[in-house]
Amino acid sequence: MILVTGANGLAGSAVIREFVRANVLVRALVRSRAKAQALEAFPTVEVVEGDMLRPETLKNALSEVERVLLISSPNGQMVQTQCTFIDAAKEAGVRHIIKFSGLTTSLDSPFLFSRQHAEISDYLERSGLDWTFLRPSQFATEYLREVPTIVADGAFYLPFEDAKLTPVDMEDVGKAAVALLTQAGHEGKSYMMSGPEALTMRQVAEQISLAIGKNVSYVNVSREDRKRAQLEAGIPSFIVDALDVQTELRRLGNGEEVVHLETHTALGIRPTPFVEFARRHAADFLGTSAWAMAQKEQKHPLGLWDLPRA
Ligand SMILES: NC(=O)c1ccc[n+]([C@@H]2O[C@H](COP(=O)([O-])OP(=O)(O)OC[C@H]3O[C@@H](n4cnc5c(N)ncnc54)[C@H](OP(=O)(O)O)[C@@H]3O)[C@@H](O)[C@H]2O)c1
Repeated sequence: MILVTGANGLAGSAVIREFVRANVLVRALVRSRAKAQALEAFPTVEVVEGDMLRPETLKNALSEVERVLLISSPNGQMVQTQCTFIDAAKEAGVRHIIKFSGLTTSLDSPFLFSRQHAEISDYLERSGLDWTFLRPSQFATEYLREVPTIVADGAFYLPFEDAKLTPVDMEDVGKAAVALLTQAGHEGKSYMMSGPEALTMRQVAEQISLAIGKNVSYVNVSREDRKRAQLEAGIPSFIVDALDVQTELRRLGNGEEVVHLETHTALGIRPTPFVEFARRHAADFLGTSAWAMAQKEQKHPLGLWDLPRA
């Protein structure tokens, strides 16, 4: 059996969707079944409840499992959550863990989440289990966070200056995860994965404009203004500070501007251009989709919109 953790989140739900498309049986770990009704609807998905921080709740989830895709939320407890889970998985007889991390993982990174991913990866490598790392770049879905101002002002406001990023379509990442979880021979390997183009924010705006047939501009703002807006929106200050460090690194060029298509090539996945992602989400960017309407209804502040799941 294959288990995907964080299955109700952005990345996890995209992976589950690709398992459904491939018609391969998968088990999905969620904290609350009540919030996972979309997953329950798929006959090839077995939804199981459990908390990765509480091994005693993971017995059913880990029963008869050979391989796991390890995902949890980027938060202050990510290291504890994933390392506790690795111990429980080993105890239950899991053979191979595929750890979902990011393009820039490093123990000495100034960016909190890069550091945390590196710590967990280190722990996994020393666990005695087989391991594989899946390391995607910035998710293309991150730009859906900008929908409120795209709809209101025809613009989005970020502090990235002329930095280039390589947003990757989660459908591509989901396909890679399915391949790594269902095929042999990926043990001890690391798979970096980005979108096919390095884009400045002005180019991202052009691609969104092209996709939705409406002009969208990029407005550069100062790091201070961005931080103030995020704090006003209610984003916890340690996350705001972490994202500010990430902005600084992106402006300097931290490797996120480098295109990595080697995983697409190795696994036979067609790289999805950003404009194609934006076209698929045109109704979201126009604010007319069911997702956008629901967020507006609930009056979530900018930056705290609950992004659409796959
Ligand atoms: N955003 C990007 O551009 C980007 C790029 C590269 C890599 N990443 C990495 O991708 C990973 C996944 O991000 P995401 O956006 O998919 O996160 P997400 O939407 O927050 O999803 C994470 C899931 O993990 C679950 N989870 C958290 N703690 C748990 C626990 N103790 N037990 C069981 N489940 C738990 C959450 O469950 P609930 O639904 O119950 O809260 C949630 O569904 C992160 O590690 C992030 O660093 C992100």
